[in-house]
Amino acid sequence: MKLFLDTANLQEIKEAMQWGVIDGVTTNPTLAAREGGDFRELLAEICRIVPGSVSAEVIATETEGMVREARELASVAPQVAVKIPVTPDGIRAVKILAAEGIKCNVTLIFSFNQALLAAKAGACYVSPFVGRLDDIGHDGMALVADISRAFSHYGFSCEVIAASIRHPRHVIEAAMAGSHIATVPFSVLKQMFNHPLTDLGIERFLSDWQKAKGNTK
Ligand code: E4P
Repeated sequence: MKLFLDTANLQEIKEAMQWGVIDGVTTNPTLAAREGGDFRELLAEICRIVPGSVSAEVIATETEGMVREARELASVAPQVAVKIPVTPDGIRAVKILAAEGIKCNVTLIFSFNQALLAAKAGACYVSPFVGRLDDIGHDGMALVADISRAFSHYGFSCEVIAASIRHPRHVIEAAMAGSHIATVPFSVLKQMFNHPLTDLGIERFLSDWQKAKGNTK
């Protein structure tokens, strides 16, 4: 299972990359707007830091505009995957872009049928939004499990990115649901390290070590 970082913040990306556990990065217009500045330059910098897949989203809503923006974003670096919303115009754009070899991450997926349409159009990734479904009382992870099972059954090469991850439990559930990837905010990535018994264990080991050293003197 791959772990992507869901952020456009360079500091977070640099720190997470040092841990050696991040396979890629996803951004969206909200995350990019939070950083300010020129997005093309920011994307290029992210791609210099991260050798794996880096997703960047189009702003246009009609096919021609999406295709134009996608070509521009994809020209920044070979690992760029262009995020396209799952609308009829978006799916049409994915078909055109996939034929040109441009990788597409179809985003804002909230149903199985949307994921199926994206895969059929040639998307490399689909991003079901788990947290936003949970927010309205649905079971976001059940959707991830359904998509993962069907894609595996039919041998689709399209990978599932469990997105809109809100807490470490979501990461476990995404893995159990068979998701290829979970894209996690930096805060969740840091929480994944935590366990009180690890802290306690280190404390005890250190104190036992100190005691033993004291005894040999
Ligand atoms: C995924 O690619 C999206 O950028 C992201 O996971 C959305 O998460 P949110 O629902 O917390 O905004």
